[in-house]
Amino acid sequence: MGTAANQVSKVSIVGAGSVGVAIAYAALIRGSAGVIAMYDIDGTRTRAEVLDLGHGSQFVPGAQVIGSDDVAITAGSDIVVVTAGAKQRPGQSRLELAEANVRMTRALTPQLLQHSPGAILLFVTNPVDIVTMAALRAGSGDRSRIFGSGTLLDTSRLRYLIARRVDLAVSNVHAYIVGEHGDSEITLWSSAIIGGTPLTEYRTDTGRVFDEVEREAISRSVVDAADEIIRGKGATNLAIGLSTVHIIEAILRDQRVILPVSTLQNGALGIDGVCLSLPTVVSARGARQVLDVPVSDEERAALHASAATLQQTQERLGL
Ligand code: LAC
Repeated sequence: MGTAANQVSKVSIVGAGSVGVAIAYAALIRGSAGVIAMYDIDGTRTRAEVLDLGHGSQFVPGAQVIGSDDVAITAGSDIVVVTAGAKQRPGQSRLELAEANVRMTRALTPQLLQHSPGAILLFVTNPVDIVTMAALRAGSGDRSRIFGSGTLLDTSRLRYLIARRVDLAVSNVHAYIVGEHGDSEITLWSSAIIGGTPLTEYRTDTGRVFDEVEREAISRSVVDAADEIIRGKGATNLAIGLSTVHIIEAILRDQRVILPVSTLQNGALGIDGVCLSLPTVVSARGARQVLDVPVSDEERAALHASAATLQQTQERLGL
């Protein structure tokens, strides 16, 4: 994969709602791709968003922004990002969106691959782990080229909260959320480090910071983050936009960076046959190498419980 030097990289975004537009806006500002295409069944909205993005062209690196209510606008994409579908309402779990969004994914995936047979499909639509499995079932070819944004956003929320707690730059924090992008996600506290120090050993002049109570409170804040934002502004979009563009650039720039994205598991940590997030190498070849990260017995048990939750939903939907 990868765009030849004289070719222009094309990223298509399915869904011109607040998440899709945030992804397009972030990609435009960062100069992530040469062509940004937006597809949504609401042609009026799509054309308005494309115009609004294009009107800022003078202020950002050059990129062509196009859009349509015809899925053919996505043809020839290097990456197709799917954000379309029913959105979480306050108090609603992501898994409650499964039926409608799986139905859409089953219909849409073959069309996207028909127009862009060489593309990597990156799913953001929730419940992203279930939707990714539905796409894998409906798609064909190399399964490393169909994956979901997973718990990258949750991991970013975790690192933000840890860094803010100790007044350090987020880049000094290395910690992961794994499992379902949802209520059963797991914080890997046992492998978390701050500037090379195990997080549980990190001290300030008042002593250790992250005792069990503090860790549990932070984990809870990450799980509840989306609902808190949805209650306040109706939807989350900005951080998911930035995290999705981070994945887009890992692919287009062949960065071989380790990210917790949702892939069809094949045995790592004893997990098989479900899509969930573990630290994975992301490159121009997609999401290919899942890392068997060290976990505590408690974390392993929680990860298997997360997988079981997803397995139940998969079975209920015939995936
Ligand atoms: C969130 C959405 C993207 O966690 O699921 O904000």
